[in-house]
Amino acid sequence: MSHQAIESPPFPPVWKRRHLIDLESLSREEIVAILDTAEYFRQHTDGCRNKLPLLTDRTLANLFFENSTRTRNSFSLAAKRLGADTVEFSSSGSSVSKGESFIDTAKTIEALCVDLVVVRHRTPGTPKVLSECLDCSVISGGDGAHEHPTQGLLDILTIRQQRGRLDDLTVALVGDIAHSRTARSNIWGLKKLGAHVIVCGPSTLVSRRWEEVGVEVAHSLDEILPRCDVLNLLRIQFERQSTRPFPSVREYALLYAMNRERMARAKDNILIMAPGPINRGVEVTTDVADGPHSVILNQVTNGLAIRMAAIWLVCTQQRRERDGIA
Ligand code: CP
Repeated sequence: MSHQAIESPPFPPVWKRRHLIDLESLSREEIVAILDTAEYFRQHTDGCRNKLPLLTDRTLANLFFENSTRTRNSFSLAAKRLGADTVEFSSSGSSVSKGESFIDTAKTIEALCVDLVVVRHRTPGTPKVLSECLDCSVISGGDGAHEHPTQGLLDILTIRQQRGRLDDLTVALVGDIAHSRTARSNIWGLKKLGAHVIVCGPSTLVSRRWEEVGVEVAHSLDEILPRCDVLNLLRIQFERQSTRPFPSVREYALLYAMNRERMARAKDNILIMAPGPINRGVEVTTDVADGPHSVILNQVTNGLAIRMAAIWLVCTQQRRERDGIA
């Protein structure tokens, strides 16, 4: 049996953060530092299959107040790949039902000798509030329609792996931009790395205000399709909408679903992405979601590498601050 040497990634001098709350406030250099660290973990763990136990004295708590399959399980597995212990909290079945507040719940979990909390909550700003209330590190697992930074990072890592660069690529985010935290994190991250970003969808779900930050706004997928290198197909988030943004799901699919006919009019090497969960037949048809251009499952695997990087970076910075290094 071969034993993997336990060797840390190089700690990027630009990294000074104990928390990861959003991509809007990160510099291009900080984003590249996370991507490069994720790539290191991918390459030194056989694609995140093996352990690199650098954080055996650390405990991560998943604090999820909304449902999740990808984010929660990959944070949990990423922590275990690094040798850390994990605590799993879900609001359903917890003492929240007895009236315990969000902050009291978070402080209680922290008091179990937790070093890092990953929080998902329907209220925008919750990770920031926690980072100010707790002593431990905080990583956002998605807050309302605000941001989902590790999703944005894993999407960007997937594009960089497939295309070797972000500069000058045209990336369209298609669908429910108004309610998508993934869209926001993608927009900030992609723009900082030099991509041309288009947001595309019904006018009820795509605000013209994105033009103010240099994002192209489009309402016709068919018009922009021939120019796109990447399509990231976002789910319609009915659970966050107070009114119906279009007459019917069928009509939405006619105008915006990526299907075989549209693939025939796209670039030969177009990348089809989706943060998931996908609704087959709504934003993407099955033949496209499972077809040769789809990297949807590569995104999921890259979630492990990105989350290993994010956990290791914030925990290492926490240790450096305690040791008076930075
Ligand atoms: N993309 C994403 O956040 O998926 P989950 O809701 O399953 O975590």
